[in-house]
Amino acid sequence: MPVKVFIKTYGCQMNERDTEAIAGMLARQGYSIVNDENAADILIFNTCSVREQAERKAIGKIGIMKKLKKQKPHLIIGIMGCMAQNLGEKLLQDLPHADFVIGTGRLHKLPETLALIRDERRQLSLLTGGKEILTSMDTHYRMANAKDYQAYIAVMRGCNRFCSYCIVPHVRGREFSREIGDVVAEAKGLAADGVREIMLLGQNVAAFGLGGDTNPPPEDCSPLADLLFELNKIDGLCRIRFVSPYPSYFTDKLISTMGALEKVCHNIHLPLQSGSDRILKKMNRQYTAGKYLEIVNKLRKAMPDITFSTDIIVGFPGETDEDFEATREMMKKVGYDNAFIFKYSPRRGTPAAAMSDQTVRDVKEERNQILLRELHDYTAVHNKNCIGSIQEVLVEGPSRRNDKRWSGKTGTFKVVVFEPDKNTQRGELVKVRIIRATSATLFGKLVVTEPPFK
Ligand code: SAH
Ligand code: SF4
Ligand code: F3S
Repeated sequence: MPVKVFIKTYGCQMNERDTEAIAGMLARQGYSIVNDENAADILIFNTCSVREQAERKAIGKIGIMKKLKKQKPHLIIGIMGCMAQNLGEKLLQDLPHADFVIGTGRLHKLPETLALIRDERRQLSLLTGGKEILTSMDTHYRMANAKDYQAYIAVMRGCNRFCSYCIVPHVRGREFSREIGDVVAEAKGLAADGVREIMLLGQNVAAFGLGGDTNPPPEDCSPLADLLFELNKIDGLCRIRFVSPYPSYFTDKLISTMGALEKVCHNIHLPLQSGSDRILKKMNRQYTAGKYLEIVNKLRKAMPDITFSTDIIVGFPGETDEDFEATREMMKKVGYDNAFIFKYSPRRGTPAAAMSDQTVRDVKEERNQILLRELHDYTAVHNKNCIGSIQEVLVEGPSRRNDKRWSGKTGTFKVVVFEPDKNTQRGELVKVRIIRATSATLFGKLVVTEPPFK
């Protein structure tokens, strides 16, 4: 009987990608990956540290596992990812039933760690490590049966920006980009396996290939644009996205390349964080609201149907009513189709956590609610404007609420729900005429089903 492993993932897409790599690595060694934590011999928690809530959730969950371990003493419990890197051995003290912590730089050491624990049954922690992971993970394991039509590709890792609130550079280390040829080879392999849509991942993805230089490059330079150009040529792939780009790396070259390449999606996640120049400066975000708008306008000019989503932090230390109004104003001006609004969460070791003018909880909560309400109203209007249009939709399968209806996404990242016909398949592009819309979803009728891609 193969040893069964259950992996729970918290945090961002990079962590999801790391989980795929962990699963692929273990599957190759004969382990079996299971979906039921109660059936597992090994539990792995791939954790996030970006806000206190993320850490609290994982620690709570791992705490509950104590009971399971009492019933099954052979159970091995491991903590990996950003919180493992951040809190390190303290986790092993606070959660004595946990067997190991492995930080972000030592992911690839998991198989030998498991073997050691099985032999010696003692707590282990592997935390340091700089570039080691990046080069040794170049093989970019996946599950052998992970055939799907969407895939993540980690093209760069780490972050050199050091926004004053953010733990990511502290737990993910410095920027390191893969070679273009290496990424293209991986994308070709995925396309040959039936993948239609790839999402390029990096904590600071638009700085791909810049060798860690934090200054935005000249307007005619963008290694990410060069990568997109190569990926656009791959047969079988029909959509290319990337996340998360720091605004000031949108050079003219990147913008014009995106506009010229038919497979690059017209949807950008462009983290704003705040609309106030004073707060942006305190956050060490190296752009102004004006510069951000200039980039948005250039992108709109190159791709008139482009949609934007963003990240916003409310209640950063010292955020006044006036600063908050500036954020509301920016949300209105840009007209986002989606926004992730976060209440500022102090992270130990970051400069913002030591600022003396922390915002009280009620104010954060109130500002959060205001932005969520306004976002809902804006997206309802945007989506109503789509009624009557014909949208190209990449089919994802039966919708969550009603399996007679299927759902998929437009290139502009809107969710479309429609009734399939007997030929409709996951991973194909179909045309849907929009007849109804809410703030979250477009509803429509299938118009033409194109033959599946070969
Ligand atoms: N690399 C990404 C961000 C990763 S973190 C980028 O720069 O775009 C995702 C989001 O979490 C950030 O954009 C920010 O809005 C939010 N965030 C980061 N640190 C935070 C903190 N201490 N409190 C609240 N939100 C935070
Ligand atoms: Fe964090 Fe800023 Fe880097 Fe994004 S760019 S990961 S917010 S430090
Ligand atoms: Fe969280 Fe680490 Fe991602 S802190 S957001 S899992 S890079």
